[in-house]
Amino acid sequence: MSKKPIKQRVEPETTGHSWDGIEEYNNPLPRWWLWTFYLTIFWGVLYTIAYPAWPLVNAATQGIFGNTMRSDVAAEIKRFEDANAPVEAKLVAADLAAIGDDPELVNYTQNAGGAIFRTWCAQCHGSGAAGAVGYPNLLDNDWLWGGTIEDIHTTISHGIRNTEDDDARYSEMPRFGADELLEPEQIDQVVNYVLQISGQEHDAALATEGAVVFADNCAACHAEDGTGDRYQGAPNLTDPIWLYGGDHAALTETVTNARFGVMPSWQGRLSEADIRAVAAWVHGRGGGE
Ligand code: HEC
Ligand code: HEC
Repeated sequence: MSKKPIKQRVEPETTGHSWDGIEEYNNPLPRWWLWTFYLTIFWGVLYTIAYPAWPLVNAATQGIFGNTMRSDVAAEIKRFEDANAPVEAKLVAADLAAIGDDPELVNYTQNAGGAIFRTWCAQCHGSGAAGAVGYPNLLDNDWLWGGTIEDIHTTISHGIRNTEDDDARYSEMPRFGADELLEPEQIDQVVNYVLQISGQEHDAALATEGAVVFADNCAACHAEDGTGDRYQGAPNLTDPIWLYGGDHAALTETVTNARFGVMPSWQGRLSEADIRAVAAWVHGRGGGE
């Protein structure tokens, strides 16, 4: 006989429901669970009143706080703009040439200018400003239109050969082949001359003839010695830096059909402070004339 009393299992109440002999116990939910559950419902109702929640036909309910991710971002942007306003005002008022002497402006233009460049200019000039065929490298000291900060500021403000800005820099190289201004032989001669003055392999006899063609047709823009003319954006043809390529085929194509590089105008699209910041950034990279 066991001395220990046998624990009697108390059968819980059932609800009386029974399916195939399986009965449903009537176990109440624990109090703490139930209250937490009511609390979450209460919290949920408060939340949908306070914050944007219920989708309606055109937009969701705004919530009494009117708080959205968008208004958060706008407030954040406004905070930065307010913080930058004094230095931007100083930048706009400064003499362009003096920007480089003011450490505060240098610091600002190097940061803001780099960000503006990566947003608006990198698609054409490359993320590091090293350019590509047809889009000049802005890191070297070889400038089409000039490399002082004033020159760069003008180029960026008005752009080049665009139709949107009356003050855009403009020039147009003739299409010597397409418009039959030169015979194909003359083009071959002048191309050999350009190969010669840029220190590349060339046919000496053709180049001698080409020198005459050059003096008559090209020197007005590219200068007698071929070093170019910034006033007309005519590139230097004596250095190894090419916008469109310096081999025989690329030169023949340029002389035959000409090129017409277009850069947009940024005045009106960017603020004066932004144009100055990116001009100073470019100036700080490209030789710094
Ligand atoms: C749609 C393409 C495009 C975009 C975008 C663009 N550029 Fe240009 N940029 C050009 C082209 C093409 C040229 C060369 C035009 C020519 O042949 O004279 C040029 C020339 C320049 C020059 C003159 C270089 C020299 O040697 O004189 C500067 C400076 C310059 N860009 C700066 C900028 C800056 C800063 C931005 C951004 C705010 C920018 N560009 C955006 C296409 C672009
Ligand atoms: C009316 C002025 C003008 C005349 C005349 C002219 N050019 Fe040009 N040339 C330019 C300009 C401007 C450019 C730049 C075009 C551009 O960037 O879209 C250019 C570009 C070039 C280039 C491209 C350089 C590079 O870096 O890729 C070559 C090569 C060239 N010219 C050769 C000649 C030769 C050879 C002649 C004579 C047969 C000639 N040009 C006559 C204005 C002129």
